Amino acid sequence: MKQTIEGLQVANKTVFVRVDFNVPMKDGVITDDTRIRSALPTINYLVEQGAKVILASHFGRPKGERKPEMSLAPCAKHLSELINKPVAFVDDCIGPKVEEAVKALQPGDVLMLENLRYHNEETKNDPEFAKQLASLADVAINDAFGVSHRNAASVVGIADYIPMAAGFLLKKEIDALSAAVVHPKTPMAAIIGGAKVTDKISVISNLLPKVDVMIIGGGMANAFIKAQGCNIGSSLFEEGQEAIATDLVMEARVAGAKLLTPIDAVVADAFSNDANTKIVDV
Ligand code: 3PG
Repeated sequence: MKQTIEGLQVANKTVFVRVDFNVPMKDGVITDDTRIRSALPTINYLVEQGAKVILASHFGRPKGERKPEMSLAPCAKHLSELINKPVAFVDDCIGPKVEEAVKALQPGDVLMLENLRYHNEETKNDPEFAKQLASLADVAINDAFGVSHRNAASVVGIADYIPMAAGFLLKKEIDALSAAVVHPKTPMAAIIGGAKVTDKISVISNLLPKVDVMIIGGGMANAFIKAQGCNIGSSLFEEGQEAIATDLVMEARVAGAKLLTPIDAVVADAFSNDANTKIVDV
């Protein structure tokens, strides 16, 4: 692995930390804070070292628009409760207001910026935008494992302007993945889930020759279930995923890996707590 957080001098330095706070949220209430908690080792370490901490994240896909329901303000508030100290919040991620807020930081302070994707330049990895983000800090940390596959300004471009190192979460994920992929212990099973099969095609393809069993769960399992000709109702599914799933089933056969998908599912007549539900065979 390249440079990690412990190799950087961070005391009294302004540190830009790319986190992935793209958490499930309903009506401004965080329903699962795992991603925020996962970033705590890095945030707490930087605070203890006396760094001035700037946190930046995306939330959803606002495509350059300021969508209030995609604000990171609830995440800043929740983080403040988790670390038991104030987390300042500024309603943009570049510009004079942000520069002022950064200037006001004292060692050990934490500032959360507003959704990076309110600017389209983030997802386009625009060099000028990356430079503006970089100008806020002395060094950068990537602790956003969930978005590290994106060619985004805050993930990739920023490293052209200031040194960037891996945070504790990113390091932990890479270590775990490397151990499984580089020195696989057989027999090996991989369990993969999440909503977006499109993003995970290459991971699944790469893992298939290395594993004995690949277990597919979560929202992406719908693509495989639909590809088998089953009715998935209005379950999460993106057009085009069915063909991808069919290809992956073929790849698994060629690789000699067993590919397992759910054999039953809980179905409901509405997406609510009091919906009528039943268990069906898939
Ligand atoms: C995720 O939730 O998968 C990550 O935060 C990345 O989000 P994205 O797929 O919108 O880039």
